Amino acid sequence: MIAPRNTSPIKGSTVMWIIAGFALLLFGGLAIAETTPLLFPPQASAQAQQVDELFKFLLAIGAAIFLLVQGLLVISIVRFRARRGDRSDGMNIHGNTTLETVWTLIPAVIVLVITVYSYQVWVSTRAARADEQTVQATGARFVWTFAYDDPVNDLTISSKELHTYVGQPVHMELVTDDTAHAFWIPSMRIKQDLLPGRTTEVRFTPTRAGSYPIVCAELCGSGHGQMRAVVVVHPDEATYISWFDDAVNTALNPPEDPAERGRALLAAGAYPCSGCHVLNDLGWQGMTGPALDGVGDRAARRVAGESAEEYLDRSLYYPGEFLVPGFGSLMPQFQPDDPAAPNYMSADDHFAIIAYLCTQTASGESACDLENLERIVSEYR
Ligand code: CUA
Repeated sequence: MIAPRNTSPIKGSTVMWIIAGFALLLFGGLAIAETTPLLFPPQASAQAQQVDELFKFLLAIGAAIFLLVQGLLVISIVRFRARRGDRSDGMNIHGNTTLETVWTLIPAVIVLVITVYSYQVWVSTRAARADEQTVQATGARFVWTFAYDDPVNDLTISSKELHTYVGQPVHMELVTDDTAHAFWIPSMRIKQDLLPGRTTEVRFTPTRAGSYPIVCAELCGSGHGQMRAVVVVHPDEATYISWFDDAVNTALNPPEDPAERGRALLAAGAYPCSGCHVLNDLGWQGMTGPALDGVGDRAARRVAGESAEEYLDRSLYYPGEFLVPGFGSLMPQFQPDDPAAPNYMSADDHFAIIAYLCTQTASGESACDLENLERIVSEYR
């Protein structure tokens, strides 16, 4: 039997309860939205402020809806629970046009507002800005390299860190030498995929000085978790220029000694070797390739009848033919012919890097005959 229901009009006290309930939802939603971002990494760019505002807006709505649903659930459980000895059925309710119209219209309006707001933030955070600094980031398993154009000296400066300064809009051009990676700077609230064969881009304008982590956010192989770098935000333009001038000077005045030159090239991250190899001299801790400590000694006896310089020369250009037991064929095949094609390594760099690797011996003496190396490399020039 259906229990008789109270059909009197809504009482004043009910209206008060509803108003109090909505005030509570509004307050709860805002409180959650304001406190959650305290857990985030520092907000270090203009885009980060916009993204966080959007996030707070979405979270406030989501939190209020969560509190509404959970609140109604709790009220229903307490207020409409079956009393002791009550074996009757619940009331049979079918359809309520007003209610259904309201709960369709309100979410529709919310989604529309969110769409417009998100689109504005998307367009605004990706818009080109005047006086942008363009930096090219190359992702390669498992390392980031940053390249800066120096039009004055017709040079490209490469660095393992991304350098910029407060207030300077940065335009990142992202390319990959191998597979897909994702360029993510949590503190700048930017993340963009790198796709083979394409140049993707992303922009940010730093608002606070400091060093912030850059992370690869796309599973790219066994060294993915190590694929990290930092963005150094200098406090002002002068400090940045002083860093840049130092880098230009180093590039313009390479060390006389080829081994020193090769060391400087590798230390600057001109090639992605640090992502995979261990090399204590340069602080490398890669795990996916054979260690390079002592490689000069080993190179001399790896292949019968082949000198250390011959071995290193061929294994750098044809790594797949010289796999060290226990390691797969992951190393890029460098080529000396086409500067525009991936994995280009000029004959000069090739010479300097081998000259440096030859010095990785127990005695510290070079294991190679550099004149013979020069003869070998001259064929590539
Ligand atoms: Cu590169 Cu993960």
